Amino acid sequence: MMLRFLTAGESHGPCLTAIVEGLPAGLALDVAAINHDLARRQGGYGRGGRMKIERDRVEILGGVIPSTSAGHRAGRTTGAPVALRIENRDWANWRDRWAAGDLPRLTVPRPGHADYAGMVKYGLDDARPVLERASARETAARVAVGALAKQLLAAFDVAVGSYVTEIGGVVAEIPDLPPAELWALAEASDVRCPDEEAVGRMRAAIDAAHRAGDSLGGVFVVVATGVPVGLGSHVHWDRRLDARLAAAVVSIPAIKGVEIGPAFENARHPGTQVHDEFERISESADQQVNGGTSFPPVTRTSNRAGGIEGGMSNGQPIVVRAAMKPIPTTLTPLRSVDLATGEPTTTQYQRSDVCAVPAASVVGEAMVAWVLADALLEKCGGDSLTEMAR
Ligand SMILES: Cc1cc2nc3c(=O)[nH]c(=O)nc-3n(C[C@H](O)[C@H](O)[C@H](O)COP(=O)(O)O)c2cc1C
Repeated sequence: MMLRFLTAGESHGPCLTAIVEGLPAGLALDVAAINHDLARRQGGYGRGGRMKIERDRVEILGGVIPSTSAGHRAGRTTGAPVALRIENRDWANWRDRWAAGDLPRLTVPRPGHADYAGMVKYGLDDARPVLERASARETAARVAVGALAKQLLAAFDVAVGSYVTEIGGVVAEIPDLPPAELWALAEASDVRCPDEEAVGRMRAAIDAAHRAGDSLGGVFVVVATGVPVGLGSHVHWDRRLDARLAAAVVSIPAIKGVEIGPAFENARHPGTQVHDEFERISESADQQVNGGTSFPPVTRTSNRAGGIEGGMSNGQPIVVRAAMKPIPTTLTPLRSVDLATGEPTTTQYQRSDVCAVPAASVVGEAMVAWVLADALLEKCGGDSLTEMAR
């Protein structure tokens, strides 16, 4: 592992922070691009009231020469840990309540949330500390960290984007277009879906769930283009790129399934209809040379492997599909037990999203970018961007 990051902070605390270690020196950080990704995570049809309060902006507190400094290194990483901070604007509404101790104890665990297991695990008589940290507010910090990874990848012409393919059982027909065109169509839609016809039905499903006091999940796809051959490795389980991507994406709250390429569809067909056949590009095209061995330039007739074979990138776009369960907090109460009294009861509503699949797809981009940046650094080495490029 070349890169690592930690986040800290509660959903209704003063801020989220992140420390990112291992970025090479000399990377020019584009703060506006980080803020743009933060805004993309906050958007999407079906979000709750919290996102109307927050206007996420990142502050960089370390590891970068201040952009106001003189010289060509201004705004560039130094190789030291990069410290990030995102203020919680909602803190202003909560600070006095925390201080006055007027936050009621939460003792009725919500099915599908971290409340029950967290209370029992940490011996707590109140679920609040659990939900404060389990809340997906933490994913704002991940998106900021992922934006740094995207900027490192962009220096090597690797791009990462996403789109939504399903919400609440409404399945989109994804047009057969290059990834960048799908990303552009997704960007223009508030459910981040490239199928215009499905967009209306997805919004209607979210409206219906809202009216019914319910919540929805769905499916999104993250694609990375320009990934060179040979990131990850077949030699050990924990070096396999597919395993690392799956772990990173499933670590996003509420993501419960991950496929590399159309894995479940592939499982329904024989090998001759699944595996991506090789094709010689052209007799005159350049040979690829590595370690003194030259390789003729080849391409594939399809990409059903999702860009990974033997735990290594194979030069095709990397395609990661993720399933998000419906949001656990529902306006309609679910059966539970009050852990303070032992009495059967129903859940109490906390302010919540109805559907966060579009937002989760932006978090998915961040996690995929993070894993790819780590694997790229592993492959190229280097303490500075120029060393890495060499
Ligand atoms: C972007 C995003 C927003 C979310 N918003 C909510 C929310 O408003 N209410 C809620 O109960 N869960 C929400 N979740 C899901 C919970 O955080 C998650 O289900 C919970 O922490 C339990 O973890 P698990 O589902 O991974 O088991 C959201 C998840 C993501 C990725």
